[in-house]
Amino acid sequence: MKEKLEQIKLEAVSMLEAENADLEQIRIRFLGKKGELTSVLRGMGALSAEERPVIGALANEVRQYIEERLADAAVAQKAKENEKKLAKEKLDVTLPGSKIKIGKRHPLSQVQEEIENIFIGMGFEIVDGPEVEYDYYNFTALNTPENHPARDTQDTFYITENILLRSQTSCVQARTMEHKAPPIRVISPGRVYRSDAVDATHSPMFHQIEGLVIDKGITMGDLKGTLEIFAKNMFGADTKIRFRPHHFPFTEPSAEVDVSCFVCGGEGCRLCKGEGWIEILGAGMVHPNVLRMGGIDPEVYSGFAFGLGIERVVMRRYNIDDMRLLYENDVRFLEQF
Ligand code: PHE
Repeated sequence: MKEKLEQIKLEAVSMLEAENADLEQIRIRFLGKKGELTSVLRGMGALSAEERPVIGALANEVRQYIEERLADAAVAQKAKENEKKLAKEKLDVTLPGSKIKIGKRHPLSQVQEEIENIFIGMGFEIVDGPEVEYDYYNFTALNTPENHPARDTQDTFYITENILLRSQTSCVQARTMEHKAPPIRVISPGRVYRSDAVDATHSPMFHQIEGLVIDKGITMGDLKGTLEIFAKNMFGADTKIRFRPHHFPFTEPSAEVDVSCFVCGGEGCRLCKGEGWIEILGAGMVHPNVLRMGGIDPEVYSGFAFGLGIERVVMRRYNIDDMRLLYENDVRFLEQF
């Protein structure tokens, strides 16, 4: 029996020493209710009275020994597991973090804001107007009565007989005069619509900024000075502007306004197509009929107005040769600005 106990002890130890030993299984096999040690103890009844305490003591010793070794093995296994886990979860805190992509504003919005800031600096106020507009404000109040040929050149989308998608931001002029008394100094950015087919320089939707100034004694000199300050701030201190006679129903006299090419400075290059000048806006002195319809006495007040295409400025500024790029929302394109 003594030998049997020694053998159990050796066997248990050798099993415990194996790699990845299943400790629970070993415990059950040697110390469990139906385990080997228990069955030895059961056979003690057959022993003599002298042998019994000796074997009993030895059996206890073996049990205690196996228990201790089991506990040691459990601690060792746990430590090994932890070590493995740590190795697997190793973290290099010096690695660069993953960057969060931050979006930015569309070039059209950036340039619009820039233009707004320049005019705010000159004391202008920003006003808003609806894109779905009465033809009264889009045309009639702007001295463009029904059957006026100028209505054709700004062919637009009609919603009903007398409601349309505005073809110009000039409607905001008429709206402003109706509810504001002079002095008036406003700009109004926004979308406008014309039934143009899409190509590199046309879109049925684009953006304008309208400007309107009305006060006593406003002259074309004020218009010129204001646009000059705008152009120098927008395109650089050396920029010059040029007025070319033109016709708009709501201004008289009217002009198309060019800025000296900000790439070649006026010598002629690819951007300005050899002209040295780039057209950016329409302008003029507010027509007396328009003032009258807006409830302002043209004998007392005068004013100027201008309308600037934002796409044009963006395309010229960034040398973009296809307008469609501005509307496609391709991040690879937009990221550049
Ligand atoms: N509304 C005109 C256009 O869209 C531009 C303009 C605005 C001209 C104000 C004169 C005065 O072409």
